[in-house]
Amino acid sequence: MKLIIATIKPFKLEEVREALTAIGVRGMMVTEIKGFGSQSGHTEIYRGAEYAVNFVPKIKLEIVVAETMADQVVETIAKTAQTGKIGDGKIFVLGVEHAVRVRTGETNADAL
Ligand SMILES: Nc1ncnc2c1ncn2[C@@H]1O[C@H](COP(=O)(O)OP(=O)(O)OP(=O)(O)O)[C@@H](O)[C@H]1O
Ligand SMILES: [Mg+2]
Repeated sequence: MKLIIATIKPFKLEEVREALTAIGVRGMMVTEIKGFGSQSGHTEIYRGAEYAVNFVPKIKLEIVVAETMADQVVETIAKTAQTGKIGDGKIFVLGVEHAVRVRTGETNADAL
């Protein structure tokens, strides 16, 4: 299993969620975060105004999928979240050792 951590622009959340469910993603965590990338937040426009501080609002997605699906998930996020402007986000992929569905006790791929 792989954990895909992605930051995206907040207005892209619904479009990304739809694209991911369309390729078979069945669960994800969504968190409102603030962060910065290589511009340190300085030159990034958010809702029409340049953000005065160094942190820009983003959405963080955390998605655990079978290893065979990971590349497709990354490509789908990258394609759907891209505007071509700065601050489109980052995607990180990590290994996951173990997963459990609490209701049934199913593990690993069966738990996803
Ligand atoms: N190296 C990093 N480690 C962890 N989180 C990061 C890193 N870089 C960016 N992020 C997160 O991703 C968000 C979006 O980053 P962003 O897209 O601005 O990256 P960037 O490198 O500046 O690319 P761009 O030049 O396209 O803006 C940041 O607000 C932050 O939350
Ligand atoms: Mg940036």
